[in-house]
Amino acid sequence: MKEKPIFQPSFGNRPEQLIGRNDVLDRLMSDLQSYPGSAERATLLVGQRGMGKTALLIELADRAKKHDFITARVTCGETMLDNLIEMLQKAGAGFIREQKSPIKGFNAGALGFSIGLTFTEEAQRSFGFRVKLEMICERLAQAGKHVLVLVDEVDPSVPQMRELATAYQELAGEEADISIVMAGLPSSIAETLNYKTLTFLNRAQRIALGLIPVSTVEDYYMNAFERAGIKASPDIIRQAAVHTNGFPYLIQLIGYYLTKLSESGKPVDEAILKRAEALASNEVDDKVFQAMLNPLSELDLVFLRAMAQDNGISNVADIEARTGLSHGTVQTYRRRLLDAGVVYSPRRGTLTMVMPQLADYIRRQEF
Ligand SMILES: Nc1ncnc2c1ncn2[C@@H]1O[C@H](COP(=O)(O)OP(=O)(O)OP(=O)(O)O)[C@@H](O)[C@H]1O
Ligand SMILES: [Mg+2]
Repeated sequence: MKEKPIFQPSFGNRPEQLIGRNDVLDRLMSDLQSYPGSAERATLLVGQRGMGKTALLIELADRAKKHDFITARVTCGETMLDNLIEMLQKAGAGFIREQKSPIKGFNAGALGFSIGLTFTEEAQRSFGFRVKLEMICERLAQAGKHVLVLVDEVDPSVPQMRELATAYQELAGEEADISIVMAGLPSSIAETLNYKTLTFLNRAQRIALGLIPVSTVEDYYMNAFERAGIKASPDIIRQAAVHTNGFPYLIQLIGYYLTKLSESGKPVDEAILKRAEALASNEVDDKVFQAMLNPLSELDLVFLRAMAQDNGISNVADIEARTGLSHGTVQTYRRRLLDAGVVYSPRRGTLTMVMPQLADYIRRQEF
């Protein structure tokens, strides 16, 4: 079998090193250890495609396991509730101590369980998700274990998400030892949508996953390039890091293309770096930016094109002047784009694109 490559640009995998996320991981770990029922035990991570939501959930699950958590990581969808129960049963069974009954032949397993975390046939048949989850939490709590549920690609329109939200709220209300960390795209959970589950999602504490500091990327590249067999001067390494802007998917892509282009053993010069950057940017265009702009309306795009004329930060007043749209319409579209996570407001009255390369992409497009 071939050795695992250092750089692996894709979605939903685990990077060989998760960089720049220690603060958020520390905060999440401390929140998970707050008292049962605390509001800090329900968190929603929000970030654009490729910002590293899944990678973070995987890492968090790993850390939590080391602190007596039994975890289940599911993708939001029709089968998630069954998966969740089964994963908790599988991960937790080994920690359940069977109590031997003094009366021979009598199985003294907890009520509703046959062995470990397996339900009796009757419990399996007659109880729904909510009761099963409660039973598992109780049984694990007796074994000194806490339950952590991780839900990726949260979609409030999925009925099972609503069922999970209700069950979680009820269990948290009863101070069961359970926590939930969810992750989703800003556009999936925008306030303009109208689903009951949104109330739950909006009440959860929200953490926006953003870009990683370029200096952190540079430090990482120094070490990772060497391991990947990429020969590059400190200046080239710095330029490569700057180009990523701290966007996790691009960190992987640039590393990946530099590995490929330097297979001949030649040190990376400016020309090679430019080629790697172009190849990487093409993929970000197709897999991130296109997907980000796809759900937007014609007027959203008019707004964004007006913004793209600026270098970095735009004044909302200028957008009004450039587009000729009314003040009210500009405010509506400003809100829509903030909700969709395509822009953010660094200061009152100003807006900027979530990623600087997005402005380039928009300038290059013929809509
Ligand atoms: N902190 C990080 N350090 C290094 N690489 C990372 C980091 N976070 C994510 N990556 C890498 O970036 C790529 C995208 O990450 P990931 O799949 O987690 O994004 P995502 O936010 O879940 O995207 P999507 O919305 O499409 O599900 C993957 O190749 C992953 O290994
Ligand atoms: Mg993901």
